[in-house]
Amino acid sequence: MKRIAIYPGSFDPPTNGHLDLIERGSKIFDELIVAILHNREKRGLFSVDDRRAMLQEMTQHCQNVRVDTFDGLLVEYAVQQKAVAVLRGIRAISDYEYELQMALMNRKLQPKIETVFMMPAEAYSYLSSRLVKEIARLHGDVSTLVPPLVARRLREAMRDRRTRLQALEPPTEAHEIDSSVGSVTAELKTRRGIRRRK
Ligand code: PNS
Repeated sequence: MKRIAIYPGSFDPPTNGHLDLIERGSKIFDELIVAILHNREKRGLFSVDDRRAMLQEMTQHCQNVRVDTFDGLLVEYAVQQKAVAVLRGIRAISDYEYELQMALMNRKLQPKIETVFMMPAEAYSYLSSRLVKEIARLHGDVSTLVPPLVARRLREAMRDRRTRLQALEPPTEAHEIDSSVGSVTAELKTRRGIRRRK
């Protein structure tokens, strides 16, 4: 029987840490499905289609890796895909509590699916998509944190975002105080919210 595992996540954007885990996971399972959560309530910096394209390109060398998207319950998707396990990365102790809670809840929902934890290479133990976005927004160098194609897409996304923000509203004091790396719409809401409270 083919042993299929699901590696789920937001991947907004995918990083070298994700790639490291995909490569490790693909060696111990017959097939690894990298499953991007399609969260309709939370807009990321990149669309799900963009994330999928980036992941497909960066995992081209892994023959047994497939990139897909899912919504709804992860364990239901895993059963649908005939997977035996969910693969998750643990970088530091701080990840443990959240991951343990999620793994145990997933087991309660679907006892047939095991969660397998793997540690990325030490060099990636402090790496997260959130930090990568923040560094890119502040014009920092992300070239050792993400594959070159993702670094390029980040530069484009940040440039587009700045252009759209400048076209919509001039920078304000609120922008200086709270410039999240979310969507332009989210940022405008933040700015307007701060203004109303003034
Ligand atoms: O990369 P992330 O954001 O840490 O990934 C979190 C993810 C996608 C694995 C998690 O949010 C998830 O599985 N969502 C699907 C909905 C679900 O099954 N929720 C119950 C989890 S116990």
